[in-house]
Amino acid sequence: MESTRLQDRWNRDTSGAHYAGPRFANARRAGHDPKMVHSLLAQFAGPTPLNAVLDVPCGTGRLHGTLCQFTRSPIGLDASPSMLGSHASERRIQGSAFALPFPDQSLDAVVCCRLFHHLQTVEERRALIGELLRIGSGPILMSFWDASSWHAWRRRVGLRKTRNQDRRVAVHKNDLRQWIDSEGGRVLAFRHSLRGVSQQAFVAMERRP
Ligand SMILES: C[S@@+](CC[C@H](N)C(=O)[O-])C[C@H]1O[C@@H](n2cnc3c(N)ncnc32)[C@H](O)[C@@H]1O
Repeated sequence: MESTRLQDRWNRDTSGAHYAGPRFANARRAGHDPKMVHSLLAQFAGPTPLNAVLDVPCGTGRLHGTLCQFTRSPIGLDASPSMLGSHASERRIQGSAFALPFPDQSLDAVVCCRLFHHLQTVEERRALIGELLRIGSGPILMSFWDASSWHAWRRRVGLRKTRNQDRRVAVHKNDLRQWIDSEGGRVLAFRHSLRGVSQQAFVAMERRP
């Protein structure tokens, strides 16, 4: 299963340079995801260094430095050559988040940041969750946009500006919990950068025994 439109969006020659540069130029904004990933891994990952940690989609490697604090050499996977071209690490793989080239339960931790809110259908969301749960033997951290946040509400009622053709989707935590449950996982925790306000949030999950 693929979201073709999504891949096109990230496949422009300039995508990598934009993402590695102006997109997260604001230091405060750039720090939110790494901080949440660090705090969740510190809480749920076992003793470090972990053997195998996957960052999918890794984009231009924004989380690479954070993941290096938990494993010697994080693996990054992304569909876009342009994004991977701006990623400094050696362990980069081009591929699909929906068909990950790893055996079942072979990764000690998996991070999936800023992909879920681009998915348009429940089918795609469940497929992604199912694939992450298949390969993970430890905590799986996935970001999502929280529909119950103040920013999501402002966006819904038109008070918050959105770009043309912006189709990013916020979901409710109860729905997310249900999809995780039906794909064989369980929720360990939800984490927000600013609870109740910001849309960007993380869920930590694991495969049920
Ligand atoms: C918003 S960026 C996030 C990148 C990175 N996780 C971060 O937070 O900086 C979304 C990324 O998803 C990648 N992507 C989109 N569809 C994908 C797919 N089906 N499989 C793997 N990567 C995909 C894009 O190439 C892009 O790099």
